[in-house]
Amino acid sequence: MKTDFLIIGSGIAGLTYALKVAADCPDKTVTVITKSQSDETNTKYAQGGIAGVMDVNQDSFSKHIEDTLIAGDGLCNPHIVEMVVKEGVDRIQEMIDWGAQFDRLPDGDFKLGKEGGHSESRILHHKDVTGSEMERALLEAIQQYSNIQLINHCFVLDLITQHHLGYLVTKSTPDIECYGVYVLNLESKKIEKIVAKITMLATGGNGQVYRTTTNPSIATGDGVAMAYRAKGRIENMEFIQFHPTALYEPGVRGQSFLITEAVRGDGGILRNQQGEAFMERYDSRKDLAPRDIVARAIDNEMKINGTEYVYLDCTQMDPSRFKDHFPNIYAKCLSIGIEVAKDMIPIAPAAHYSCGGVKTDEWGRTSIKNLFASGECASTTLHGANRLASNSLLEAMVFSHRSYLASMKVINTISWNEQIPDWNAAGTTAPKEMILITQSVKELKLLMSDYVGIVRNNERLQRANRRLDLLHAETEALYQKTEVSPQLCELRNMITTAFLIVKSAELRKESRGLHFNTDFPNRSELLQNTIL
Ligand code: FAD
Ligand code: SIN
Repeated sequence: MKTDFLIIGSGIAGLTYALKVAADCPDKTVTVITKSQSDETNTKYAQGGIAGVMDVNQDSFSKHIEDTLIAGDGLCNPHIVEMVVKEGVDRIQEMIDWGAQFDRLPDGDFKLGKEGGHSESRILHHKDVTGSEMERALLEAIQQYSNIQLINHCFVLDLITQHHLGYLVTKSTPDIECYGVYVLNLESKKIEKIVAKITMLATGGNGQVYRTTTNPSIATGDGVAMAYRAKGRIENMEFIQFHPTALYEPGVRGQSFLITEAVRGDGGILRNQQGEAFMERYDSRKDLAPRDIVARAIDNEMKINGTEYVYLDCTQMDPSRFKDHFPNIYAKCLSIGIEVAKDMIPIAPAAHYSCGGVKTDEWGRTSIKNLFASGECASTTLHGANRLASNSLLEAMVFSHRSYLASMKVINTISWNEQIPDWNAAGTTAPKEMILITQSVKELKLLMSDYVGIVRNNERLQRANRRLDLLHAETEALYQKTEVSPQLCELRNMITTAFLIVKSAELRKESRGLHFNTDFPNRSELLQNTIL
């Protein structure tokens, strides 16, 4: 198959880019592929909303910029921050034009929420299901373009570069080029190649590398792992954001249900098991301090008290207001016997967001020619060492727009590469037992949660490294002799992602933002990104 634009991922980053290139190039083909159903994305689960300065009389760009820089703990690129904050307003308007509804007050103004690290209420939202509303609007909008083809259940295995044409490609090879991808069609079970002029990586996050995460099962770091295998530059992977308040449900595996930070913005208070509102002991901003600080404080309280959770107390909030703003959370809590007006909600931090990823410039261009990246898989230097709440959806829209502008400049200069060989599956046989994969996934999640979680130290990182080496060796051996499956490829990608997180964490000889190493508890004077 050949396509002009190939987009891997159907979340906010992929679909925003698809809509723009399709509208501007009606004579060109735009192909969006996703490994699951089209709406099964991190985007769909976004709750709190999208941050934006919609009224400069109530708020200001400089405040949003300042809040982002403070949260990022010295590592944000101020130029990128200013660009995203200012350009974000037009992007939000586009989202509204595509049909997304954000809650409004009776006078028509936006009903703005507040989240940790924000000095003003500036979060546009749709109740507590903002992401699902945006995903709905985007999926509906792409239907208007006959030149967009959306293919579900199609697992991208690898990016195609000169390596597949028989050339030696290393990190120092100049002008590595992307010619498209190999995919495993999950319906036909065949491996196919898709040759593209421009490829957009919009594969989302990697929360599934951890045992407890707010991310759905698709978030296995595939895009970053593929880009790394293709010798692309990867940046800042140590900055894994743990959301402070995921619902604690003993026995529940996979995705944890999120209790949006907007609940604390509306008055929810964190309490330990003695009922103490402990955040005032940690930060003057208390429950609305940036996420790294709140998550670390909760982790500390749990460790001191030997408990697996603390509480989010909403009993003092107006129950009808709570039900109106957070109907999904209200219903979820009720379904497990928690009446938020009377009962405190048990919560614990969970892996939530990857601040690092495939390194891009301000136009979404990666170090690999004709390969763009946007959304959670990208590292744009907006977030620095810790993302400010609700800046992620904004970043995805701004960088997909900029990638579109940059793509328009080059698309007519690129030809399809006609020499791509078929996938070589020689010597592989059907897997004999899935336990070899499922057990390794369990081990990986456990070691990442126990050794590379909210608090790290040198010995834990070394242990994680050694265990990852073994998992890597075993999985590569299995990969060489086994027919590819999504389970095996996801395991391989998660091991690569975990390795990148650990390696970056080892390189950072300080504590900053989301990376806290007890052997280097202070910040260093040196401001640098970790690039692998
Ligand atoms: P996703 O939306 O995750 O899309 C990834 C796509 O890539 C999927 O279609 C997937 O199938 C596809 N894909 C991945 N690998 C492959 C492969 N190998 N082959 C083919 N397809 C592949 N951010 C905010 O700004 N505000 C919020 O309120 C907010 N709330 C959140 C709440 C939750 C519970 C979570 C999990 C995240 C939240 N975030 C929030 C973060 C934000 O939702 C994500 O960062 C953002 O949606 C990522 O969008 P994306 O387009 O980059 O990726
Ligand atoms: C939340 O609603 O708390 C999540 C917001 C975010 O991750 O930006």
